[in-house]
Amino acid sequence: MRRNVLADRLPGLVIDRYDRVLVLKLYSVAWLPHLRAVLAGLDSAAPADAVVLRLSRAVQRQAEALHGLTDGTTLAGTLAANPVIFRENGLLFEADVLDGQKTGFFLDQRENRARVEGLAAGRETLNVFAYTGGFSLYAARGGAPAVLSLDSSAPALAAARRNFALNRDLPAVAAARHELLVADAFTALAGLAQSGRRFDLVVVDPPAFAKQQAEIPAALKSYQRLAELALAVLRPRGTLVMASCSSRVSADDFFAAVRRGAARAGRLLHEFAHTGHPVDHPIGLAEGAYLKGLYAQADEAAASSWRDAGSGL
Ligand SMILES: C[S@@+](CC[C@H](N)C(=O)[O-])C[C@H]1O[C@@H](n2cnc3c(N)ncnc32)[C@H](O)[C@@H]1O
Repeated sequence: MRRNVLADRLPGLVIDRYDRVLVLKLYSVAWLPHLRAVLAGLDSAAPADAVVLRLSRAVQRQAEALHGLTDGTTLAGTLAANPVIFRENGLLFEADVLDGQKTGFFLDQRENRARVEGLAAGRETLNVFAYTGGFSLYAARGGAPAVLSLDSSAPALAAARRNFALNRDLPAVAAARHELLVADAFTALAGLAQSGRRFDLVVVDPPAFAKQQAEIPAALKSYQRLAELALAVLRPRGTLVMASCSSRVSADDFFAAVRRGAARAGRLLHEFAHTGHPVDHPIGLAEGAYLKGLYAQADEAAASSWRDAGSGL
């Protein structure tokens, strides 16, 4: 009973597994007194070579002051090497479990990445907010002839380059041209549009824009602007994939913001899928359903959007 309550109801704890290494990330100080119980549970449910503790900024001060715990502490076992190399759906990636964003990788996007692989054959792809190239590698394996990975983090894109190298024995990955662009997404998208660059598939997976209620209006404006900018570099009948991981932004409000962006870009969206996160991210309360994905084919058209009655949305 206690275990169900911990696992299914309480937010603020993420445990990601990379090969034989577990990364336990806390977003709430409420978990600190229960760490011993969590570790005991992990030891029997998911034995690993090492359990690494990661602390969100909000937790760090109290964790150190009250429990002497710092971000990156190995709580159990031995971390033999960092980054940790692991496989996701057959592709090799590195996860920097000590300094990487979140726990080192964004495992919650794995189903969307697999879906993007299925859309990528023969399609020049732009991956905006690429981090370490997750969507880029799936697109390459799916047959994209060229992939541009864009992110403001130079270390993340350096890891994206290494991740391509890790998978170069796959013919489709070896054949794909992979370009990196370290830049602010908003500025770079405008620049790409102005210079005439166009893509057949554009993936936009930004960081959470609204962490508090007061930030929601600005977040919706950012999603709208990103949709407009992404559509400006998307070829006619190209595919737009947009995600939001802002827990405070509802799916309906996010989709509406994307549609407003499309209207401003003069594009007609044929939305063919709406997605969430995988089942290992339990939804104990409304904000737990934080990940939203929208897939659309974008035609050149009047400033309104429509839905395909047969799409089942
Ligand atoms: C949610 S993560 C993306 C995860 C990635 N799509 C994946 O599948 O692994 C958001 C990324 O946005 C990047 N980022 C944050 N602000 C940015 C900005 N203004 N311009 C470009 N990249 C930014 C971060 O460095 C981070 O890599």
